[in-house]
Amino acid sequence: MTTVENKGRVVRVGVLGCGNVGAALVKLIEQQAASIEARTGVRLQVVAVAVRNLSRDRDVVLPEGLLTRDAHAVVADPNVDLVVEVIGGIEPARELISTALANGKPVVTANKELLANVGTELFAAADSVGVDLLFEAAVAGGIPVIRALRESLRGEPVSRVMGIINGTTNFILTKMTEEGADYGAALAEAQRLGYAERDPTADVEGFDAGAKAAIIASIAFGAKVVAGDVYHEGISRVSAADIAVAKRLGYVVKLLGIAERDANGEIAVRVHPAMVPNNHPLASVRESYNAVFVEGGAVGSLMFYGRGAGGFPTASAVLGDVIDAAVNLGKGTHGTIGTFAKAHIQPIDETSAEYLLSLDVADKPGVLHAVTGAFARHGVSIRAAEQEGSGAGARLVFITHVAKESDVQATVRELRDLDVVQQVGTILRVIGA
Ligand code: HSE
Repeated sequence: MTTVENKGRVVRVGVLGCGNVGAALVKLIEQQAASIEARTGVRLQVVAVAVRNLSRDRDVVLPEGLLTRDAHAVVADPNVDLVVEVIGGIEPARELISTALANGKPVVTANKELLANVGTELFAAADSVGVDLLFEAAVAGGIPVIRALRESLRGEPVSRVMGIINGTTNFILTKMTEEGADYGAALAEAQRLGYAERDPTADVEGFDAGAKAAIIASIAFGAKVVAGDVYHEGISRVSAADIAVAKRLGYVVKLLGIAERDANGEIAVRVHPAMVPNNHPLASVRESYNAVFVEGGAVGSLMFYGRGAGGFPTASAVLGDVIDAAVNLGKGTHGTIGTFAKAHIQPIDETSAEYLLSLDVADKPGVLHAVTGAFARHGVSIRAAEQEGSGAGARLVFITHVAKESDVQATVRELRDLDVVQQVGTILRVIGA
C-alpha cells in the first residue's frame, strides 16, 4: 500500500474489487481528481485496491504497490480514510463493510444483494459510528434515483415507484418486440453482446430486479423491506405470441419492479412482466436502458432514465457518493438515512390489477360460454375479449377490469381444468393505464 503525502485535504480511498466498476472508478478518480478538488476542497487519492487475483489482466494500469489480495488489511488500515466496496455478494462484503464502519471509515457500495438482505443492520452500524454508508450505484447503476428518493423527495408521500431496473431483460424484451425474436434467440444475442451472463437466472427470473425493488421500497417508504419480501416472476415464459398480442392492443411488455404504498400504509413490492400502454413514459425505454417512474403527492410523476449497468455509468454513481462521503468526513458529519419502520408487506394474492389472459381453445359452439363462466364464478369482470385464429389455432384473449390476484389465479386454475381449454398462456398484468 502506498502512503500519500498530505496536500490540502486528501481523502485516501481503498477500493475492494477491481472488476468493470472498480477499474472504471479508479480511472474516473484519476481523471477527475483535480476538478473535484477545485470544486470541493477534497483531493481523492486511491491508495489501495484489493483484488482476488493479482495477475489478472485489467482495464486499468495501477501504480506499483496499489494492488493487494488482503481486503481485510485495507479496511483496517489507518492510512485508508474511505472504503469503496464493489465486490458484490453477501460475504465477505458484509464483514468487510462492517469492519470498515467499525473503524470509523465511510463506505460506498454498489452491492444490491447485500443491502436488500442486511441493509438495515449496516445502516444502523454506520449511524452508530456517525459515518456515511452510501449506495447510489446499487439500484439502476448510473441513474441517481436513490439520492432523489432519499433527499429531494423526502417530503413527498410517494405512492408508487415502478421501474425498468434490469437492463438485460429490457434488452431481450426489446428484441422480441421490435424484431419478433423469440425468447431463446433474444437471450442468446444478449449473451453474445455481454449483457446476459452465461447463467442468466438472476436477471431473467427477476432476482436482480427484486433486490433493487426491495431497496427502492425501503428508501421510498422508510420501511424495512428485504429481497425475500418481493414477489417475482421473470420473463422466461413470455412468448413472442404474448408480445404480439400486447403490441396489437397498444401495449409493450416490460419487466417492471413495482413498489406501492396504499392509503392504509400497506406496502406491496413485486417484479413481473407487465403490459405498459404505449403512451406511458416507461414504454419508450428500449434496449438495455433503465428508467424509474415515481408517483408522488405534490410533485406528480417523475421519470429517471439512463444506464442501469456498465462500468463507467455505475462508477459515476459510486464516485458521486465517494465525494459526498469525503466532504462529510471532513465536516465530521454524515447523511442520515432515517429509520426503517416494520412494514406489513401485502402478499401478491391481495394485490389488484387488470390482467391479460390468452387461452388456446377448441373452436366450437359453447366454448366462450364455458370460459367466461369461470371468470364469472370468481368475480373477475371482463373488459375486452377477442378471438384470434380459428380451428386448431383458435386463441381467446381477455383483458379484465381491475381484479384481485387471488381471484384471477382461481379463474386460471378452473380454466386449466376445462376440456375446451388446451393451454393458458402467460398472464400479463396491465400496469400504468
Ligand atoms: N445485470 C443487471 C442488469 C445489472 O442487467 O441490469 C446489475 O444489476
